[in-house]
Amino acid sequence: MSLLITNIGELFTNDSHARSLPASAAVVLDGERIAWVGAAADAPAADERIDADGAAVLPGFVDSHAHLMFAGDRAAEFGARMAGEPYTGGGIRTTVGATRAASDEELRGNARRLVREALRQGSTTIEIKSGYGLNVPDEARSLRIASEFTAETTFLGAHVVPAEFRDRPDDYVALVCGPMLALAAPHARWVDAFVERGAFDEDQARAILSCGKERGLGVRVHGNQLAPGPGVRLAVELGAASVDHCTHLSDADLAALTSTRVECMCHDGWDTTVATLLPGAEFSTRSPYPDARRLIDAGATVALATDCNPGSSYTSSMSFCIALAVREMRMTPAEAVRAATLGGARALRRDDIGVIRPGARADLLILDAPSHLHLAYRPGVPLIRTVIEAGRAVFT
Ligand code: NIG
Ligand code: FE
Repeated sequence: MSLLITNIGELFTNDSHARSLPASAAVVLDGERIAWVGAAADAPAADERIDADGAAVLPGFVDSHAHLMFAGDRAAEFGARMAGEPYTGGGIRTTVGATRAASDEELRGNARRLVREALRQGSTTIEIKSGYGLNVPDEARSLRIASEFTAETTFLGAHVVPAEFRDRPDDYVALVCGPMLALAAPHARWVDAFVERGAFDEDQARAILSCGKERGLGVRVHGNQLAPGPGVRLAVELGAASVDHCTHLSDADLAALTSTRVECMCHDGWDTTVATLLPGAEFSTRSPYPDARRLIDAGATVALATDCNPGSSYTSSMSFCIALAVREMRMTPAEAVRAATLGGARALRRDDIGVIRPGARADLLILDAPSHLHLAYRPGVPLIRTVIEAGRAVFT
């Protein structure tokens, strides 16, 4: 079935190869793909038609960083933080307890609820991490269930050292590299590690990420969230697709992100490690935001994602992250929307999403607004009118 979207107020394509579009643009979808983009007057016939009524149309959001495999919540911890307690990541172990105690159906139901909540708000692609099981069966089932919802699954057995290994972290590293990875890898596309004081040091993280790489998983890293550290350096060294948080960066980190080409199965085979910024985490932990302007001006590729998790960032809203990025991280609205779409696609090494051009997946949003500016200009307002996922209007 083909679908013509016409009367578009602003078409935000992210397509650098496209000729500049006329004021009145149209898009034709054919099945799961975009078939045609151009002037409304030249649009080919289609089976069905949506009148965008002068609204902005943009690619579906690509949320390249979310932790949806968990049970319970930590609202009390959030309340304590807002009363002055610091965030340390220590609460992760609370969620580990709740996750281990949950049935498969509870974990699946919670993930389903959040994937749907995210989709309703425009996230047509979402990455899902494990990391609240932290033993062999619970990490394996987290990824098995995650893969029911997305192809972008990430093994985060190296989230923190669980309580039962507190005095022997190297034994835990061996468990992650051995039996845990063996059962998790068949359900995962990526391997990730939290490189931070209180989680994993550089050598431990290098060991785990290298084992994942040997099993064919792509690398992504949680780095430089709470303090300066080796996360960015290690991510670039290992050819990671993305290093996430990037709140505390040295000049050397910045140079590594902008000057090192890493191999990828995308573009011409080479790309940089994407800096993925997660302003929901700074919001919910009342911490200083990363400086996106510094990264962009230095030439880094920046992505925006929610980090949706019950501890540090319990939001599934990419629009909220865009508004924060504009207000608090010195991004222009256009840069923030690009980072939330094309940036996320690059962080996942995907060429088929985050862009409106013929051949790309037909994931599109029609806003209740005439331009992308409104996503930051009208924060907190539900502006995603229509969500089209793989050619199908799933919310309208
Ligand atoms: O990305 N930084 C590590 N992990 C999560 C937080 C998880 C939690 O607090 O439960 C994050 O912010
Ligand atoms: Fe995270």
